[in-house]
Amino acid sequence: MSEAEIATEVSASSAEAEWQLLADVDLGSAEFPLRARCGDDAILVLRISGGFRGIERSCPHQKRPLNDAILQGGDKLLRCRWHSYVFRLSDGKAVNCPGYKLRVYDVKVENGALFARPAQ
Ligand code: FES
Repeated sequence: MSEAEIATEVSASSAEAEWQLLADVDLGSAEFPLRARCGDDAILVLRISGGFRGIERSCPHQKRPLNDAILQGGDKLLRCRWHSYVFRLSDGKAVNCPGYKLRVYDVKVENGALFARPAQ
């Protein structure tokens, strides 16, 4: 691998995804979990203690909907209602189901609007 290829690879891996405005979100009237799109990804925005967190809409186990999943562990964990698989909201890693990973998203509020990006 050439130096240029190595530099490109390092640059790509260390680049953070850009924040995306979540369209059609009125924070004053929004109900959570909130369905939104982060780029091409269909996500759910959860209101958690201390802010918000985004997750993919379907469980990585059998792709069932996560709109009625249960927050637990002080809003640090998410339990799917279908088969009780539990995922960490910090990084999406499975707690009781090795091999599965939930896609998670950073979510912030800026000037009254919600923005999201894939979590690193
Ligand atoms: S579909 Fe979520 S745990 Fe099975």
